[in-house]
Amino acid sequence: MTYLVFARKYRPQTFDEIVGQPHIVKTLKNSITNNRLHHAFIFAGPRGVGKTTTARILAKCLNCETGITITPCNKCSICTEIINGSSMDVQEIDAASHTGVDNIREILEKVAYSPIKARFKVYIIDEAHMLSKAAFNALLKTLEEPPPHVKFIFATTEPNKIIPTITSRCQRFDFKRVENVDIIEHLANLLEREKIKYSRQALSIIARESGGSVRDSLSMLEHIVSFSSGEINEEAITKALGLISRSTIIKLFKHILNKESDRAVEIIDESYIAGFDLSILFNELLALTRNVLLLKIGQTRIINNYLNSDEIEEIKPFLPQITTQGLHMLFDTFFRAAEEVGRSEQPLLTAEISVLKAISVSSLKPLEEIIQRFEELERRLSVEERGLKPSSIPQTKPSQEVNLEQPEIWLNVINEIKKRGKISLSSMLEDGVFLSFENDKIKIGFKGAIQLSSVRDPANIKFIKEVLKSLYGRDIDVIIQDLSISEKTAASISEEIAKKKSESTRKESEDMMQNPLIQTAIKIFNATVVNSKDKK
Ligand SMILES: Nc1ncnc2c1ncn2[C@@H]1O[C@H](COP(=O)(O)OP(=O)(O)O)[C@@H](O)[C@H]1O
Ligand SMILES: [Mg+2]
Ligand SMILES: [Zn+2]
Repeated sequence: MTYLVFARKYRPQTFDEIVGQPHIVKTLKNSITNNRLHHAFIFAGPRGVGKTTTARILAKCLNCETGITITPCNKCSICTEIINGSSMDVQEIDAASHTGVDNIREILEKVAYSPIKARFKVYIIDEAHMLSKAAFNALLKTLEEPPPHVKFIFATTEPNKIIPTITSRCQRFDFKRVENVDIIEHLANLLEREKIKYSRQALSIIARESGGSVRDSLSMLEHIVSFSSGEINEEAITKALGLISRSTIIKLFKHILNKESDRAVEIIDESYIAGFDLSILFNELLALTRNVLLLKIGQTRIINNYLNSDEIEEIKPFLPQITTQGLHMLFDTFFRAAEEVGRSEQPLLTAEISVLKAISVSSLKPLEEIIQRFEELERRLSVEERGLKPSSIPQTKPSQEVNLEQPEIWLNVINEIKKRGKISLSSMLEDGVFLSFENDKIKIGFKGAIQLSSVRDPANIKFIKEVLKSLYGRDIDVIIQDLSISEKTAASISEEIAKKKSESTRKESEDMMQNPLIQTAIKIFNATVVNSKDKK
């Protein structure tokens, strides 16, 4: 059929038509204008981003009958020969099928002769990394002292496989994956010229699927055009490519977060009946989860390349509905599901179960949070039994003597002092470092001499103690430590802190795993403890 016609028909014939490689175009234009063109180049980059295209344009710039130029005429006999690939002087060699030294020798023998018709002999060596070592070595001499009428262009997807003695004699250009916005624009232009109707949403799906390769985006578009009769829209794409539409994925994700298992399973069933590959569906959910996660942690720059602003608006409402940890767990579930569904002999059943699992996982609280709530409850109960005021009593059990991660007790003191209007004292205390709380003694360190002397003022100590007593209902001692004695001491103190901290962290997580509540939870959910220390 007409397959692959687009890529050829719309191959850029001038520098200005090349999409998404402005750094390369600019440098090449400058070198040509200033007559400072190298004799050998490496064009490195992924497939389908314009390496061969640029090489051919460069060959025309050097050889066009109108003279050396940055705007070849594309009409003269030399330009047209280069375009059709029939030029005797501009040769494209596919290194993948001509890897041997003999092939290179054959070329090199003719290198010395002047071009037949053009100004320069241009050798475009595609997939150059496939050349054998002997072939490279044979080339080396010519590259060291090339005849003035010869240019080499090595195009490669794997530049690191080219030996350094070659690369060091070439000017290297790194072609980038083309950004989605540029691909969308390119496809839109093409469709307008072809007078084919389209939706931008559809083009953005193609761009996303093509992973930055213009060639892949064009062949995909071509396939869709030959597949559908009318407009290129989301429906046409999902039909042609067997993709599941974006709106379906968003809907499914929403149902999962809202724990609407009936409707979630319904979507799975419908997709299955429509003949979609359910493992792709989970891969799409995986991609969506990743995007929500990126958006959640504020990575909008990365995300802009994958999602348009409508889509971002679409997923924003999910953000407050799920924690980062919940997203991690969803990610895990979808990842496994995509694999399992692909392997399963009963993909529908596996997919349904995976979705139900995702629903239970998405609403799970991190284990640590469960424990904290549990302990808080326990504390309150015992406090009420003793008839004390149920504010948070600091823990003084030996196993929790040091709680350096959470000096809430100290933050509470500072807040209370602030509340009582002693702003300057409270802000001074904020400069202190919470060191420990053991045996009803709270230890705070200060560096500055001024802070030290004013915090140590008996009136202030007395005041802090009063605040502690009012907060926790008992006498708690305040010890102020001088951290300024010497840098060395300070360093050893922070080392000590770090040591204690890691000991207590390890202890805590060991304790946690011993907790019967956790053990039960692990059994019920068939869970793995991912990270017991993540407090966010
Ligand atoms: N940067 C680009 N701008 C416009 N079209 C491109 C670009 N890169 C690739 N194409 C399209 O893809 C086709 C193949 O490109 P090509 O230059 O052979 O890629 P490469 O050599 O990098 O694999 C071209 O015919 C053209 O239609
Ligand atoms: Mg190529
Ligand atoms: Zn010309």
